[in-house]
Amino acid sequence: MTFDVDVIRAQFPILSREINGRPIAYLDNAASAQKPQAVIDALTRQMSHSYANVHRGLHTMANETTEAYEGARAKVAAFLGAPKPNNIVFTKGATEALNLAAYGLAHEIKPGDEIIISQMEHHSNIVPWHFLRERYGAVIKFIPVTEAGELDLEAFKSLLSVKTKIVSVVHMSNVLGTINPVKQMGEWAHAAGAIFIVDGTQAAVHMPIDVLDLDVDLFCMTGHKLYGPSGIGALYGKADMLSRMQPFNGGGEMIEDVYEDRVTYNDPPHKFEAGTPPILQAIGLGAAIDWYRQFDPQDIHLHEMAVYHHALDGLRSINSFRLIGDAKEKGSVLAFNLEGAHAHDVAQILDKYGIAVRAGQHCTQPLMESRGIHSTARASFGIYNTLDEADRLIEGVKKAATFLS
Ligand code: ALA
Repeated sequence: MTFDVDVIRAQFPILSREINGRPIAYLDNAASAQKPQAVIDALTRQMSHSYANVHRGLHTMANETTEAYEGARAKVAAFLGAPKPNNIVFTKGATEALNLAAYGLAHEIKPGDEIIISQMEHHSNIVPWHFLRERYGAVIKFIPVTEAGELDLEAFKSLLSVKTKIVSVVHMSNVLGTINPVKQMGEWAHAAGAIFIVDGTQAAVHMPIDVLDLDVDLFCMTGHKLYGPSGIGALYGKADMLSRMQPFNGGGEMIEDVYEDRVTYNDPPHKFEAGTPPILQAIGLGAAIDWYRQFDPQDIHLHEMAVYHHALDGLRSINSFRLIGDAKEKGSVLAFNLEGAHAHDVAQILDKYGIAVRAGQHCTQPLMESRGIHSTARASFGIYNTLDEADRLIEGVKKAATFLS
């Protein structure tokens, strides 16, 4: 399909909403994206036409719903370039995928084993490793981030050793927008004998992902930033990795047999999906992927980066404007501060003009501390944002700068 932002916007009912008397300029896509009619329709259709629990029933709607749920798994697999649907575990989101990775591998960790992450990780790729530090004596090492917002790759190489058991890094930073060279990093991690995990939460929305080409052992993504419902995400795993991992939740469907004195488990991915799964959310994610894949990823990238650069060029004319994150390889995330102003105040002023941005630490306290700041404002652009919205952001930030300085 040809890329026409007006046609795309017309598919998002929420974008016709007004906030404080102005058309909404929704620039908070890194936090969560809006949903196209195709996703809304898929959810409504499933609920109004065919709904039952999955994997359990023998009746028609149970079979139909199971087919739709497993069909969604196949769509996620194709989207990530996974060899089989069974490489995909459905989770509540990327946070749960990362927690599952850490929990599932915990039994392989001995005191003194090292886990390498980076200073630009989201808390969801820090805290689960702290659990392994607290409970099993793992040692966490952080790859430093340069002033421009890039990973210090020489420092990363020097951190790798025979003690390194796991390397887990973000593909695209939710604050700096930096796109990390994860393929190269994975080669180095594997050469050191480490398991290589990638947090693809932001990346999966802004660039094509091929988990085989990246040669990642585990890859995490979420649905709600990909124009799908909240409450659904996925953990891709190589087959041997999923077999090695221990299940996190126990209950129905994740077992093969349960006796009074022992239990045997179902095969992956079902081993990790105890209880009634997020059936509708998974089907909604499948619909979001179908919708998203009608566009050429290069068109999406060029469009989002055009909006990003347009906004950045205008914002740079404001004296107190400070860009946070200027990596050579970056996506459409624009974090900034106005010198002398609190990011929360900037975001509140922008809201008065109908412009939605996020402000705060963005769940990246170590990154903030490494740069000596407490918070930033952040505009993050998605498929439906426009140059006109970028202009409104520039005007709004100019007003904030005048008001707050
Ligand atoms: N991780 C999301 C963000 O960056 C919530 O806003």
